[in-house]
Amino acid sequence: MVIIRDLHRHYRLGNVVVRALNGINLTIYTGEFFAICGSSGSGKSTLLYLMGGMDRPTRGELIVAGQNLARQDENQLAEFRCRRIGFIYQNFHLIPSLTAWQNVEIPMIFNHLPRSARRQIAMQRLQEVGLLERSHHRPNQLSGGQQQRVAIARALVNQPALLLADEPTGNLDNSTGKEVVALLKNLVSINQVTVVMVTHDMNLVEQADRFVRLQDGRIVESN
Ligand SMILES: Nc1ncnc2c1ncn2[C@@H]1O[C@H](COP(=O)(O)OP(=O)(O)OP(=O)(O)O)[C@@H](O)[C@H]1O
Ligand SMILES: [Mg+2]
Repeated sequence: MVIIRDLHRHYRLGNVVVRALNGINLTIYTGEFFAICGSSGSGKSTLLYLMGGMDRPTRGELIVAGQNLARQDENQLAEFRCRRIGFIYQNFHLIPSLTAWQNVEIPMIFNHLPRSARRQIAMQRLQEVGLLERSHHRPNQLSGGQQQRVAIARALVNQPALLLADEPTGNLDNSTGKEVVALLKNLVSINQVTVVMVTHDMNLVEQADRFVRLQDGRIVESN
C-alpha cells in the first residue's frame, strides 16, 4: 500500500534548515493496522501528511496505492486525496453547524454522488459506528468519543484505500480512546482498508500489527 524510499522533507526557515524527515525507508502492506510513534517534533505528522498527498517530499520515493506522489501535480494530488484517502484528526474537524449525517455526507458531495445515495450511505456508516440514533445531532450535542466516531464514519464513506489518523485518541480519555481504536480495528477488517495511526500512547501502539518509532526525522525502532 505504501512504499517509501529515502524520503526527506526539509523546511527552510531563513538560514536554518529543519530536517523534519531525514531518510525514511518504510513499506506498509495492504490491510495492515500500522502505528507511528515518537516524541513531539519527531516528524510523525509530516510523514502522515506526505502519505496522504497533503504535502510534497523534498526528495525520495513515495508510492501510495500505486501512485507515485512525488511526481503528481496539485490537481492529481487533490483527486488522489478525495478518492483514495480518509483522514481522522485529533480534534475531529467536524463542521459545527451540520448534523452528524450531514458531516458524514460531505466527502460524497465532492465525489458527485446523488443526494439519495449520499443519505443512504451516510446512515449506513453511522449505523456501523453505533450512532444511527444520533444522526440528527450536531457536534456540540455529542460526546468526544461520539464525535470521533462520526469523523471515522466520514473518513470511510468514499471507501478509501488508506485511512490516516493523527492522534485520533489525543482528545479522549483512556477508555474512550481504547474503544475508538477497537472500532477502527474492527472497521478496518470489515472494509479491507489499510490504517496508519500516529499515537503517543504505547498501549495503542500494542494494538497495531506493526509500528515504527521516529526520532529527529529517522526511524529508530520498528518491529
Ligand atoms: N511548516 C513548517 N515549517 C517549518 N518547520 C516545520 C513545519 N512543519 C513542521 N516543522 C518542523 O518539523 C518537525 C517535525 O514536525 P511534525 O509536526 O511532523 O512533528 P510531530 O512528530 O507530529 O510532533 P507532535 O507530536 O508534537 O505533533 C518539527 O521540528 C517541526 O517544528
Ligand atoms: Mg503531530
